Amino acid sequence: MEIVASFVSDYIRNLEKSTDSLLIEMEDYALKNKVPIIEVEVARFLEILVKLKKPKRILEIGTAIGYSSIIMHRAYPKSKITTIEIDEKNFLKAKEFIKKSNYTKNIDVIFADANDALEFIKADYDMIFMDAAKGQYINFFEKSVERLTKGGILVSDNILFRGLVAKEKNNVRRKNTIVKRLKEFLNMITNSEIFSTTIVPIDDGMAICYKK
Ligand SMILES: C[S@@+](CC[C@H](N)C(=O)[O-])C[C@H]1O[C@@H](n2cnc3c(N)ncnc32)[C@H](O)[C@@H]1O
Repeated sequence: MEIVASFVSDYIRNLEKSTDSLLIEMEDYALKNKVPIIEVEVARFLEILVKLKKPKRILEIGTAIGYSSIIMHRAYPKSKITTIEIDEKNFLKAKEFIKKSNYTKNIDVIFADANDALEFIKADYDMIFMDAAKGQYINFFEKSVERLTKGGILVSDNILFRGLVAKEKNNVRRKNTIVKRLKEFLNMITNSEIFSTTIVPIDDGMAICYKK
C-alpha cells in the first residue's frame, strides 16, 4: 500500500535525472542487494532541510550504505555527521562508499546497535535523522532527545508505515507491534510540549520535529 499514488511518486522521481556517478553507483548497489535507502523525493526534502538548518553536527540512526549521510553532508559541507549501523555488511560498504566520497573526516560511521551506542554518545547535535528499526523509534528518541540542541530538528522516516498507522485495524498481523509502537511515537511527538511537529506524507511518511 502506498500513501502517495504511485503514478504521482513515479512522476516526481522521474523529473530529475541523476548525474552523480557515486550516488548512481550506490543506488545500483542498494537495488541489487535489496538495501533500503531513502527515495529521491525524501533525499531532496532532507537536502533542503539541511541547507536551511545548516546543522554543524548531525546524528543519523541507520546508515545502511551511507547514501543519506553523503547527501546530508553535501547539502552542508561544514557539517560533521555521526551515523550508526548495526549490520556489519552495510557498515563495511558504507565505509567503502564514504572513502570514495572523500568525506571520511566528516562522516563517522559507528558499527553498533544504536540502543547501545546512544548510551555513550555525549556530543550535542543540531539535527537527528532517524531511519533504522521503526519499532524502536521511541527507544531511539528517548535516548537521543537530550542530545538535540534547542532549535534543533529531529527527522524521522517511514513513520506512516505504508499508511498502516492511520488505520483503525491492521490486517497485517505480523506488523502489529511496529504499527502500535509507531502510533505511540507519533502521539508522543505530536503532543509533546518541547516540540513543534509536522507529519509530511511523502513516500512512506516523514515527521519533522523542531525543538523549542
Ligand atoms: C532504511 S535503512 C537506512 C538507510 C539510510 N539512512 C539511507 O537512506 O541511506 C535502515 C538501516 O538501519 C539499520 N538498523 C536497524 N536497526 C538498527 C539499530 N538498532 N541500530 C543501528 N542500525 C540499525 C539497518 O541495518 C539498516 O541498514
